[in-house]
Amino acid sequence: MTNQTSTGWGSRIGLILAMAGNAVGLGNFLRFPAQAIENGGGAFIIPYLVCFLLMGLPLLFVEWGMGRYGGRYGQHSTPFIFDVLGKASYWKYFGVFGIFTNIAVAAFYCYLESWALSWAYHSVAGTFNGMTQANLQAFFTNYIELGTAQPVVFWVICLVLNTVILSRGISGGVEKVAKIGMPLLLLFGVILAVTGITLEAEPGGAINDGLVGLNYLWSPDFSSIWSFKVWVAAAGQIFFTLSLGMGSIHCYASYLKEKEDIALNAMTAGWMNEFVEVVLGSAIIIPISVGFLGIDAISKMVSGGSGLGIGFAVLPQLFSSWGWFGTLSGLMWFGLLFFAGITSSMAMGTPLIGFMRDNFAWKDKQGAYLFGILIFIFGIPTVLSQDAFNEYDYWAGTVSLVVFAMVEIVLFAWVLGMDKAWDEITRGADIKVPLVFKYIIKYVSPVFLIIVFVGALPDIIKNATAETSLYGWLGRAMLLVLFVGIAVLVSVAKRKKLKS
Ligand code: TRP
Ligand code: TRP
Repeated sequence: MTNQTSTGWGSRIGLILAMAGNAVGLGNFLRFPAQAIENGGGAFIIPYLVCFLLMGLPLLFVEWGMGRYGGRYGQHSTPFIFDVLGKASYWKYFGVFGIFTNIAVAAFYCYLESWALSWAYHSVAGTFNGMTQANLQAFFTNYIELGTAQPVVFWVICLVLNTVILSRGISGGVEKVAKIGMPLLLLFGVILAVTGITLEAEPGGAINDGLVGLNYLWSPDFSSIWSFKVWVAAAGQIFFTLSLGMGSIHCYASYLKEKEDIALNAMTAGWMNEFVEVVLGSAIIIPISVGFLGIDAISKMVSGGSGLGIGFAVLPQLFSSWGWFGTLSGLMWFGLLFFAGITSSMAMGTPLIGFMRDNFAWKDKQGAYLFGILIFIFGIPTVLSQDAFNEYDYWAGTVSLVVFAMVEIVLFAWVLGMDKAWDEITRGADIKVPLVFKYIIKYVSPVFLIIVFVGALPDIIKNATAETSLYGWLGRAMLLVLFVGIAVLVSVAKRKKLKS
């Protein structure tokens, strides 16, 4: 309503939906089921839930708490949230991760998001009607190999949409989109999940009941529990799905007022994400695809833990055999993926916008345009090459998250001190946070994070020096340039502050 730029959230429900929208993304519907199958099925849920309780929830509290704390000092991005928390001059450079990751992840994430938009369009346009499974595979491959100009067109449309939403600020843009997108996503998700679970084998249609797929997804392989790799995968999925370790939660929380609740809000958004992931995410792609094609065909497509192939190169053809309900299902499925995607990618724009406003007096509009231009430039390699995509996904979407989380929890629980940190988390709380979380945050989560990081270190070192194509190297170089560029801006901003 006002023309003042993003001074805060309009309503509590808007905040929760935006936070849940930030977390609920493509990862919930595609990555989670594939990761679960790859890592022991029903047994995967044990490490996964342990990681949620000992690392996910505690980090949610920490990030919300740090964010609201920063907001009190007029800071809306992690470099200077860390700066006011830590005092020592180096903390702000760790905070650089909290802008860097967002831009780098958005650069490849918006491309995936544009696939969803494109597939929604093709579902309605009837492109998939009459295709065989092989036709659809060919369509998918041709698309991702840029056989036509279309992928670029849809990608640019997505970038423009993100930019326009962000240019309207927090309550005027982000909150409004979340309030429309999230309820629709939940509605579509529930309808598709019911369709998946109640699918019945019948002559000419599915060869299995939907429950066969569900059983396959959840058939436990308990030997996996003793595998370190499975624990790292579970931790990785928790980070990815909750949008932890990246700085966007801090940014959203920095628009809260000092005495507004954190504890219940964080719990609500976190559990909402888990419901969408574990309940809805399980009940769609696997039951439907296994129902029609059988376990053997699908288990091959799951390897790699991505789920993208099933979502884009299998489901539309199955839908197209369902008549009008198939068209509707296609629209709902890709509409759901698109809303899931855009409510996450727009969150990734907000730290940069906050940073430019706080430190260089930029308007939200200008910050949003800068974000749009950056994700376009940094997105180019990922559109052109899978190798560059993988570099971004690995360095920014995986490793950076853990590094950042380790630093932030030490800063909050040990440098600021756990008593003050606990006071931040519980001030204004509408629920009583179990005291045990105080100890989990101080001791358990940091140790947990360090173990995950140290355990992954050999892999990280191997990957840092691994050979890749020219595009892969270009991707690595661009990530480095991005990080250094933001660090330079942070240092300029600091000098400016000291002078004034
Ligand atoms: N949580 C989102 C999902 O589940 C993706 C996401 C948002 C993300 N922010 C992120 C992933 C930061 C990695 C890093 O799809
Ligand atoms: N290869 C990445 C991964 O496995 C990218 C990816 C696969 C992805 N599926 C995804 C990213 C779903 C977002 C959502 O993590």
